[in-house]
Amino acid sequence: MKDILQELEDRRAEARMGGGQARVDAQHAKGKLTARERVELLLDEGSFEEFDMFVAHRCTDFGMEKERPYSDGVVTGWGTINGRLVYVFSQDFTVLGGSVSETHAKKICKIMDMAVQNGAPVIGINDSGGARIQEGVDSLAGYGEVFQRNITASGVVPQISVIMGPCAGGAVYSPAMTDFIFMVKDSSYMFVTGPDVVKTVTNEQVTAEELGGATTHTRKSSVADGAFENDVEALAEVRRLVDFLPSSNREKPPVRPFFDDPGRIEDSLDTLIPDNPNMPYDMKELILKVADEGDFYEIQEEFAKNMITGFIRIEGQTVGVVANQPMVLAGCLDIDSSRKAARFVRFCDCFEIPLLTLVDVPGFLPGVTQEYNGVIKHGAKLLFAYGEATVPKVTVITRKAYGGAYVVMSSKHLRGDFNYAWPTSEIAVMGAKGATEIIHRADRGNAEALAAHAKDYEDRFASPFVAAERGFVDEVIMPQSTRKRVARAFASLRGKKAQMPWKKHDNIPL
Ligand code: HXC
Repeated sequence: MKDILQELEDRRAEARMGGGQARVDAQHAKGKLTARERVELLLDEGSFEEFDMFVAHRCTDFGMEKERPYSDGVVTGWGTINGRLVYVFSQDFTVLGGSVSETHAKKICKIMDMAVQNGAPVIGINDSGGARIQEGVDSLAGYGEVFQRNITASGVVPQISVIMGPCAGGAVYSPAMTDFIFMVKDSSYMFVTGPDVVKTVTNEQVTAEELGGATTHTRKSSVADGAFENDVEALAEVRRLVDFLPSSNREKPPVRPFFDDPGRIEDSLDTLIPDNPNMPYDMKELILKVADEGDFYEIQEEFAKNMITGFIRIEGQTVGVVANQPMVLAGCLDIDSSRKAARFVRFCDCFEIPLLTLVDVPGFLPGVTQEYNGVIKHGAKLLFAYGEATVPKVTVITRKAYGGAYVVMSSKHLRGDFNYAWPTSEIAVMGAKGATEIIHRADRGNAEALAAHAKDYEDRFASPFVAAERGFVDEVIMPQSTRKRVARAFASLRGKKAQMPWKKHDNIPL
């Protein structure tokens, strides 16, 4: 009996060695942790339960039958993050370069199926040379099975991808279909075709880092939602994110104990808006002052900075925040900011996360580039996303809310539940100067008359009261009381039930 038990231990030890000490050392030398070390850091201590440790591939081509390492290049299983169930897979670059074989893919599919069935997030740690070259189409089939599961699980359980090494070729499309992608600076990259192919086909010379590193994907392409300095920081931040999220679409987000008075008054907000309406101010200050304990988890911080998206808690409950940032491009809507916010709004709506929208928007960014690149369709994404969202929606207009952008930003007309405005709000079709130049064309050249008309326009429209008279703004509130009003609004909406008519699915302008 002792021998039998010992054999199990020996086999386990062999599996845990991955591709052997030399390859583990090489992994460490690159500043990367091993697949199992990553899982240990991601999950609560001692909570990891492994599946399929002894799975080995069945390939017999190219002499592969001689090398059949346990686990087949991916560690899979489940555990907890702050006590809540999650499923995880972590590719092991030390075993055949973490390449994806038929059996490797089957292991991933198994835990994805369990995650959907049991209603818990899937976290995928990617570090792989891609399709296992020796297996050919079996490997591609394996990827295809994973892709299908990403799609089936979308909107059912949160899916998070952490890129911690190479992720190239069609392999990038599994992370691309998950809800969030995080990368590690200088040690991870994602691209459909690598620098060599790019050079051959387009004659562009580019390094792997430039083509698909963390900076590229967080600042330029917006493929990634965040980038971290190293593996340890990335995994700690994933734990922090999971704390904000519900386990599945069958559950509400977790409510954390809170020690911050929801009725807290912030006098400093009364002077947040500068006297000069063209001066910027930092919208993040308002977000932090509304949030429990000033805790804000920002998504896509480095991309389209004219729009801020992320999670806070109010009375311990997760709230998704979408806010215009007057410090960047005056907080206007454009292609990038609309896409960024639309995807975030849709994530929140899938998972019953209430939405807080903070508005200071001068309108859509004009320009040939914007029009040629389809600002109409991309702007419509955000409009559509807000209009279809049935979660509790609370909106606060702090200053400008002009034109189409006013309607888009979770207005009353898109079924906003509580639409508040600060007394400093200006809600109108456009700014006074532009408006008077159009409606008083006859006075063009007469500066004095135009100034008088602009003043008249401002007096009549540059305030929240015209909208408030019509009930488009539910209440004009003191800036200092924003947290209190917003907290009470969300508390009153906890039982909200709203539905769209039955349809197979909508046809959001993609
Ligand atoms: C089998 C692979 C492999 C692969 C790496 N290895 N990629 N084995 N299939 N795809 C093995 C190597 O042979 C090596 O084995 C070990 O993993 C480590 O690889 P190195 O090359 O030594 O590591 P490094 O120098 O860090 O380079 C990493 C790399 C490179 C850039 C990822 O290995 C590479 O270019 N690999 C091939 C990438 C590729 O073309 N993949 C197919 C893409 S197509 P030993 O025994 O020496 O340690 C694809 C399609 C997906 O993925 C489609 C989905 C629909």
